[in-house]
Amino acid sequence: AGDGGPAVRRVCDWDGEGLRSIAAVHDTPLYVQDLDRVRENCARLRDAFPDADVRYAVKAHTGRAVLETVRDAGLAAECASAGELDRALAAGFGGDRLHYTAVNPPARDLDYVTGVAEAEPDLTVTVGALDTLDRLAERGYDGRICLRVNPGVGAGHHEKVTTGGAAKFGIPYDRAATAAREAAARFDVVGIHAHAGSGIDSDQLDSHRELVARMGELARTLAEPAAEADPIDIEYVDIGGGFGVPYEEDAAPLDLPAVADATREAVAPLPEGVDLAIEPGRYVVADAGVLLTRVNTVKPTPDERVVGVDAGMTDLLRPAMYDAYHPICNLGGADGEPAPDERPTTPVTVAGPICETGDAFATDRPLADPARGDVLAVGIAGAYGYEMANQYNSRPRPAEVALVGGTARLVRRRETLVDLTAVEREQPRATDRDA
Ligand code: LLP
Repeated sequence: AGDGGPAVRRVCDWDGEGLRSIAAVHDTPLYVQDLDRVRENCARLRDAFPDADVRYAVKAHTGRAVLETVRDAGLAAECASAGELDRALAAGFGGDRLHYTAVNPPARDLDYVTGVAEAEPDLTVTVGALDTLDRLAERGYDGRICLRVNPGVGAGHHEKVTTGGAAKFGIPYDRAATAAREAAARFDVVGIHAHAGSGIDSDQLDSHRELVARMGELARTLAEPAAEADPIDIEYVDIGGGFGVPYEEDAAPLDLPAVADATREAVAPLPEGVDLAIEPGRYVVADAGVLLTRVNTVKPTPDERVVGVDAGMTDLLRPAMYDAYHPICNLGGADGEPAPDERPTTPVTVAGPICETGDAFATDRPLADPARGDVLAVGIAGAYGYEMANQYNSRPRPAEVALVGGTARLVRRRETLVDLTAVEREQPRATDRDA
């Protein structure tokens, strides 16, 4: 149903020739984000969860064009910082579509959100520690509060992104009801929240269901009167995001409608007037993005064939940080070389220009034998790609192009060497100081 398109778009499904000409115009490394695919992903989520409020976890991709697309598709915004909130506001999300999730929030962020709440009183702040409530109260915040719970179970593609169960996030499950009642005495408590982790695949759905079941149980507990406390009328149970997408070529996509059915079943029965909410990030943007990079070096060694490219871990950190797999497709383009599908397939190491051994997108990866000048597309790069890019090795961050109806539009210019030093202030040279 709906206009959600296929459950996943593989890197080889992109128009290779189109991508190559975009690379020719805008140079590499270059992110390309297909907004039509973002729209399809939003539609699939809304179709699978028609009765839930879908909140886009902005951290996966905060580009303005993406935010506007997601907003137009009817999703709300879940923001992790003042910066994300600022971007969401600028992209036109109304106050009632804004959620700020405070994790050990810096004072500056709380000042900012308190200020925003004065103009947008319908925004919701999600807190994972009672300390945060005190700090909000000190600033005069008296608006909507959602309580983040540590559900005691987690899931995710890597231990570094498995949040459920990690003490850092949320109020321990067995104290959550008491904490909610304390909070409700001072604030308008409108929801409860938990997030299992990021990149949940089909094998981890049991843990996710367990989390959902616990949240349903907590919602029912809060709806009951307790000793000396009234029931709390919450509006929603937010079970977080984390829906995985298949990075490996042969991995099956999540059966989202089945996940949605299992979720509804596990959370039931929700008290009257309490709705479900989800906050996917990766699922919305991951397969809508590719990173284009050009081959500049081909080096046969006794053990492996090293293919050097102009993108590195500064542009796409996930392989170096999580050993994450990203599919790669050789789009060709090298002068005088046959089309990639006419070349032999060779196992290669694809490595970037940064002086760390971890700066490799793949090892022992079969590719249509790359030649100097070829453009490679690194797939499923739309989530946590540009977002985690950095300037290590004094590398300007890449440019980004958005595709709408196949038409490319530059949405983030490439950084320059001047950008690298723009925040530095001139200091007397050490030698001058000593004199
Ligand atoms: N809600 C909360 C409270 C979160 O912390 C996150 C992600 C999400 C929702 C969205 O999760 P998603 O649907 O995108 O899985 N940089 C890592 C992922 C970190 C995710 C952090 N929190 C990566 O590249 O895999």
